[in-house]
Amino acid sequence: MLDFKNIIAEEVKKVTNIDNIYEYIEVPANKEMGDYSLPCFKLARELKKAPQMIANDIKEQLKFEEELISKIEVVNGYLNFYINPLALVKTVLEEFSNKQSEFGNSNIGENKTIVIDYSSPNIAKPFHIGHLRSTVIGNALYNIYKFLGYNVIGINHLGDYGTQFGKLIEGYKRWGKEYDIESNPIDELTKIYVRINNLCKEDESVLEECRNNFKKLEDGDEYCTELWQEFRKLSLKEFQRVYDLLDVHFDSLNGEAFYSDKMAEIVSILEKTGKLVESEGARVINLDEYDMPPCIIEKTNGSTTYATRDLAAIMYRARTYNFDKAIYVTSYEQILHFKQVFETAKLLGLDKKYTDGLIHVPFGMVQLKTGKMSTREGNIIKLEDLLNEAISRVSKVIEEKNSDLENKEEVAKKVGIGAVIFNDLYNSRIKDEIFDWDTMLNFNGETGPYLQYMYVRTNSILEKVNKIPNINTINVELLQDNASVNLIKEMYNFGSIVKQAADKNEPYIISRYLINIAQLFSSFYNENKIICDDKKMQEARIYLTYCTNILLKNGAGLLGIKMPDKM
Ligand code: ARG
Repeated sequence: MLDFKNIIAEEVKKVTNIDNIYEYIEVPANKEMGDYSLPCFKLARELKKAPQMIANDIKEQLKFEEELISKIEVVNGYLNFYINPLALVKTVLEEFSNKQSEFGNSNIGENKTIVIDYSSPNIAKPFHIGHLRSTVIGNALYNIYKFLGYNVIGINHLGDYGTQFGKLIEGYKRWGKEYDIESNPIDELTKIYVRINNLCKEDESVLEECRNNFKKLEDGDEYCTELWQEFRKLSLKEFQRVYDLLDVHFDSLNGEAFYSDKMAEIVSILEKTGKLVESEGARVINLDEYDMPPCIIEKTNGSTTYATRDLAAIMYRARTYNFDKAIYVTSYEQILHFKQVFETAKLLGLDKKYTDGLIHVPFGMVQLKTGKMSTREGNIIKLEDLLNEAISRVSKVIEEKNSDLENKEEVAKKVGIGAVIFNDLYNSRIKDEIFDWDTMLNFNGETGPYLQYMYVRTNSILEKVNKIPNINTINVELLQDNASVNLIKEMYNFGSIVKQAADKNEPYIISRYLINIAQLFSSFYNENKIICDDKKMQEARIYLTYCTNILLKNGAGLLGIKMPDKM
């Protein structure tokens, strides 16, 4: 595809001899000001002239082919460039024809590896709505980086280790038979956990037993290990139901326990730095100079911590994957934790490449608009229930409005899950998210179902003609009306939008973009008759519909949203 910004930059460079001119060229917010604009006041110091003069000078010397740049204007010291719509239409359509669903992809990630740590629920605890965000954001980032050519490793850093397992084992020892763990593992294990915690509060000696159990687990005791494995296996089976609903996959399920034999090395490296110090019986890395509380490496009883396991994981991932970036997706409650861990990681003697590549990607909390949602647990909202509720709400709508629809269940699943995912990815991730069924399931709002609905519309148009015309037969001159050009201009940006989303680790940039595409298609559709008597016209418009169809499906796919064929 023609890179117009680069074409402009190269020409302006010849005239001005400024090498990094590309970086100065902007896309004006106001469409009246052209497609690209050069703010000449930024060159004033270097060229020692007034902006208006610079602009005029450059303009006079520039030579563009009329077929590429149709107009250049000087306005208030800005040099505004207007792309010839024909060139734009042609290059975008051709690119679609060549690349199809690869439209917008790139190879900027070639030979680079990104490790993404996401989802990471805790064994024997409910997979709750907070983990939904981590799962959905992490999965979107996974797809986005893949699309940009990176080698991506998705890791579910399961919370499968820690003192709570000592408690669970104790509870199970005492009352295991009373609970039906097989058929309903997480609920039942949670009950045991609550019960043993209460007992610990009353009876110090029980707490001591629990601590012992964890110590035994760390030392490889057979009974404790077996039980722990069983808890892990059953929990994973339950989590898997959620992953299946979301269609999320991981390359590695190495959770915290995986690092149990890899922490001694970390402790010994830290010891050698002389910075591992005693503090109230624990061993810590002092982070005073960074205005942070110390990073606790070993607790008073000698057991390791969440942070130590994260340090061991950094070491392991650097060695195993040789990562360029390691991304962690969790709620903002863990900002301090990762700051401490990343700072401490600099003491591990790793190449700077690795410690520079550590990135925490925090997100905001989920708030319920009504404060209530149907759930079995009272105030803990289980993700599986929530996803199933989304599906059943959509099913109801389908029954009311379109009960003859084929594959009703499949569609309800795609729309229900798509709505939840889209809602999760619609705002900058750090913002708290409002969870409200009516908003996210609104087919006319800026929602997942709206995107899907517009996609389905393109599908049904394409179905009517039943044949996609060959690109060589399309007369691009027939797509010069405003609505068509506006849609095509926005399509042109897809590649750079995906790169921006990756740069900022912000999938919402793609969500908003897709809504924009859907709305622009809607205007195109409302203003133009697609199926019409003029067959040449019809072919051109069909082709644009076809491009929109591909783009919507593929863009939504990056977010983890599936498109139904009909709805
Ligand atoms: N299990 C943790 C939680 O539920 C999240 C783990 C995030 N990843 C990590 N490497 N610390 O809060």
